Amino acid sequence: MCGIVGYIGYREAYPIVIKGLERLEYRGYDSAGVALYDGEEVHICKTKGKVSDLKEKVEGAVAITGALGLGHTRWATHGVPNDVNSHPHQSNSGDIVIIHNGIIENYASIKQELTKRGYVFHSDTDTEVLANLIEEVMKIEGVKLGKAVQIALKEVVGAYAIAVFDKKKPDEIVVARLGSPLAIGIGKDEYFIGSDASPFIEYTSNAIYLEDEEMAIIRIGREVRVRSINDDEQIDINIQNLKISLEQIEKKGYDHFMLKEIYEQPSAILDTFRGRLLPNEGIIKMSGIEDNLSKFTGANRIIVIACGTSWHAGLVAEYLFEDIARIPVEVEYASEFRYRNPVIKRDDVVIAISQSGETADTLAAIKLAKSMGAFVFGVCNVVGSSIARETNAGAYTHAGPEIGVASTKAFTTQITVLTLIALRLANAKGTLSTSDYKKCLFDLEAIPKRVDEVLEVNNQIIEIANNYSNVSNCLYLGRKYNFPVALEGALKLKEISYIHAEGYPAAEMKHGPIALIDEQMPVVVIATKKGNYEKIVSNIQEIKSRNGRIIAIVTQGDTMIKEMADFAVEIPETSEFLTPLVATIPLQLLSYHIAVMRGCNVDQPRNLAKSVTVE
Ligand code: F6R
Repeated sequence: MCGIVGYIGYREAYPIVIKGLERLEYRGYDSAGVALYDGEEVHICKTKGKVSDLKEKVEGAVAITGALGLGHTRWATHGVPNDVNSHPHQSNSGDIVIIHNGIIENYASIKQELTKRGYVFHSDTDTEVLANLIEEVMKIEGVKLGKAVQIALKEVVGAYAIAVFDKKKPDEIVVARLGSPLAIGIGKDEYFIGSDASPFIEYTSNAIYLEDEEMAIIRIGREVRVRSINDDEQIDINIQNLKISLEQIEKKGYDHFMLKEIYEQPSAILDTFRGRLLPNEGIIKMSGIEDNLSKFTGANRIIVIACGTSWHAGLVAEYLFEDIARIPVEVEYASEFRYRNPVIKRDDVVIAISQSGETADTLAAIKLAKSMGAFVFGVCNVVGSSIARETNAGAYTHAGPEIGVASTKAFTTQITVLTLIALRLANAKGTLSTSDYKKCLFDLEAIPKRVDEVLEVNNQIIEIANNYSNVSNCLYLGRKYNFPVALEGALKLKEISYIHAEGYPAAEMKHGPIALIDEQMPVVVIATKKGNYEKIVSNIQEIKSRNGRIIAIVTQGDTMIKEMADFAVEIPETSEFLTPLVATIPLQLLSYHIAVMRGCNVDQPRNLAKSVTVE
């Protein structure tokens, strides 16, 4: 939920740390801070607000030299966002400097004990408690920083990724992780730390990703030492070669990451099925599925667990698996699933969907399902993420880094992977005829082109956005495969433009939401030709007769709905089961343009963070 960055080496740390924070700002942006050691003193500068506010403050306030630095961008959990609660935090002596992503659940009792021993606390955070606990351990046990961090962490209940240094020993940073990601970049005579690799990819492509319950001592002039926090064992380091490029995480001339990511969807979808979808041979090749085919074909049911947009992709999967592969599916919010004593049987297959691979509720739901004997398959975007590692098998989406907080290309690439799986299972189970199956493969192969075509509606969407940017409410309706699309459209609008929006199955409108309809209420209806077209036409008439304003997403060449709607956006025709991949795009663009027109911060909407690593 927060972003952490660190540097130790021979270069000026400040530019590396501040740039790293800018790249990690998607993880949290209510406050930010840096600590720099200039050879004699630690200089800390922190502020409520964004990294840009921090930059302004630092550049006028503290010395910004020094080859040791830590930086933090925060999404508040303990204590309101303000200057004092921002990280880095220091121990009472000022020697121990720490940044932390996560939550220390038992911080209150530790704080009480430390207060009794004379410690004073300036902030409301759990992190300041940890800084002082480490200091106290060093004092009482007479140990160095690494050992003190280890002892302190054994007392801690919660989740963390931390980076700490001791002013008296400034050639070393100690890092540790439990439940929050942490990567160490390995350079020549220098080391980098990040919540992900984005802060250091221009300096090195070699990185160590810490596992849960591991810590590392990073000392200049020596190889990184990784050990297990609980049993003190030395762990062999595994240096990975990073595949992401700087270009992938920069805006490439777009005004916002979200817009860039919307436009990247044709290539992201193509990358996701490249090498897996072979229509001419009539083959889908996915090793994670092939290795576990009998588990899927013999599954009693599939349970999908996910949150937010990923949950909407899961709803699309429900239609896909039941329709195409005839396997019953239940779609669960991970946060509900994990706390409601679910019934899971050995022949249930669980699919966990997560862009970040770090969502705390999804991770906990996976652990629960595994402990009850289920086979868990992950669909993740971030390679090496916690969920990717925790699942029994999986398939990556190849969306590339998604920086905009509102998920766009992650959603369509998740649906792409789920479609590949559904088709492979349909083929294995014989639920589709050979000719239908082959046609489906070719139709899927054509999707990047269809998405390219639909992106051409952008100017029309700007015109629609101009008409509706001042509304307070909006309703989204769809049927069958278009129902999850309606939910996703509504979520996109509310999260980035702060307009209240609801998604509904179109027929449910009569059971309540119809009461809301008047001439102020825009209703976005996804009304493509396939999928209960006549029924949705009737729904549109019901809205019209109550003076509702209709924005319809229709299939190219549609004339009937065009006549009824205030605006009709034409999208290219495709097979019904692939409609979500195309119909979602105008809704993403609509929410984007409305948010821009309302002056909202599209890439960093208020109160949100890209990966929700707290429950
Ligand atoms: C919405 C959005 C969130 C995420 C949700 C799950 O645009 O991004 O609703 O979809 O927080 O995140 P992941 O997929 O990383 O598990």
